[in-house]
Amino acid sequence: MPKPYQPNDKWSQKAAEEGYRARSVYKLMEIDTRFRLLRHGMTVLDCGAAPGSWLQYVAQKIGPKGKAIGIDTTDIEPIADNVHLYRLDMMNEAALEAMLAQENIHQFSVVLSDIAPNTTGIKDVDQWRSVELTEAVLVLAQKYLKPGGKCVMKVFRGADFDEFLRKVKRDWKNVKVMTPKATRDRSFEVYVICEKH
Ligand SMILES: C[S@@+](CC[C@H](N)C(=O)[O-])C[C@H]1O[C@@H](n2cnc3c(N)ncnc32)[C@H](O)[C@@H]1O
Repeated sequence: MPKPYQPNDKWSQKAAEEGYRARSVYKLMEIDTRFRLLRHGMTVLDCGAAPGSWLQYVAQKIGPKGKAIGIDTTDIEPIADNVHLYRLDMMNEAALEAMLAQENIHQFSVVLSDIAPNTTGIKDVDQWRSVELTEAVLVLAQKYLKPGGKCVMKVFRGADFDEFLRKVKRDWKNVKVMTPKATRDRSFEVYVICEKH
């Protein structure tokens, strides 16, 4: 039996105590520890970044010489000087490209995506939308990630997942799938981590 939804589970409490905006930060911390993603001075793109807990963590890890760009369709409260925030839709490639030109960014060291579509409750629809958004992240990452740079993407498991993963394995190297400990018991999300050739 899956456990019922607990808004005040231990991860949410820990996030509140440690000053993070969301419990999801602990998923990124675990992925970072395992895959050694983030270092001082890196340029990082975070897609679907609101309310900003991943960016809070990224900002500390990359330090003042690094730069993070966070995008989301909803506003994000300011985080730090090295974090630039944009209200943008991941599906709007032209607007994303214009923003990157304005930021004078030609390459990222790491691309992150914790994007979750607004769920309809219909599992197949939500899963398909999650894959569609994640494919848009991959298109951008193919273009802007440096060779050897890592891309981390949340994606909902379901009917389209195997085909999605097959394509990632075809086009990227060192593809791994993981479910961090802070993932809710009832969730069908996983994280795909891959490296650009
Ligand atoms: C789980 S939250 C991200 C949490 C974030 N990693 C954090 O630590 O605070 C998922 C986000 O994806 C965003 N999102 C959904 N569809 C999007 C789209 N088309 N473009 C950009 N962001 C989107 C949602 O607005 C939401 O804020």
